[in-house]
Amino acid sequence: MRYLLVSDLHSNDEALSAVLSRVKRKKFDRVVCLGDFVGYGSDPNKVLDRFRTLPRTTIAIRGNHDKVVSGIDAGEMFNPPALFAARWTTERLSKENLEFLRRLPVGPVVVDNLFVVCHGSPLDEDAYIFSDFDASMNFVHMNRLDRDIQVCFFGHSHIPSIFTLEPEGIRVEAVRGARARLKLEAGKRYLINPGSVGQPRDRNPKASYAIFDAKEMTVHFDRVAYDVQSTRRKIHRAGLPTMLGDRLVVGL
Ligand SMILES: [Fe+2]
Repeated sequence: MRYLLVSDLHSNDEALSAVLSRVKRKKFDRVVCLGDFVGYGSDPNKVLDRFRTLPRTTIAIRGNHDKVVSGIDAGEMFNPPALFAARWTTERLSKENLEFLRRLPVGPVVVDNLFVVCHGSPLDEDAYIFSDFDASMNFVHMNRLDRDIQVCFFGHSHIPSIFTLEPEGIRVEAVRGARARLKLEAGKRYLINPGSVGQPRDRNPKASYAIFDAKEMTVHFDRVAYDVQSTRRKIHRAGLPTMLGDRLVVGL
């Protein structure tokens, strides 16, 4: 079984379309979204309509922006531009798409008895995993969820990264460059972020995604270019805070 892993789409339809056309000829069986379908960008309905009608079975969990937009969370922790974008999105979402967001399950979720998915971290859907310290408590929690599961995929930080629990300690790797491949090794555990489709924050504006091959136990990371300037202009024209468009160009 092969899984297409996407996260943090953030209402960026150009980025999602670019990823889907890149993977057209690649083999995958299911699409997994690690949350944050909406927020920041100008095309929430297009992104949700596209995801909901994909010709493959999909698995999705909610992200913090999905919760605020759908009224599950008030967004008190959001900065003003993020809160503005969330309210802007709520006013424009179709009934079906709002309902879809409201019904998204809370992570962590075990998929096909093979791996765990969560938005922020297995312990807390709203918490970030940036460091080996953040990862350490989450490896303990993964073990409690299912002792046989070796890998958890997470999003939220928008940074493609790999945390590996090895006998010597925790290895932290930032995934940089156009392509990378990771072979999962027996006896180790992994927390892996495929990066963000719609708003990368590693100073690389290209859309980020990964494919997990559960038979080969490999993860392939990839980046896809799209017309970032036109997405930026759409955000400006929509009346959303200009910085939300500007940061796309620098990948922040
Ligand atoms: Fe996000």
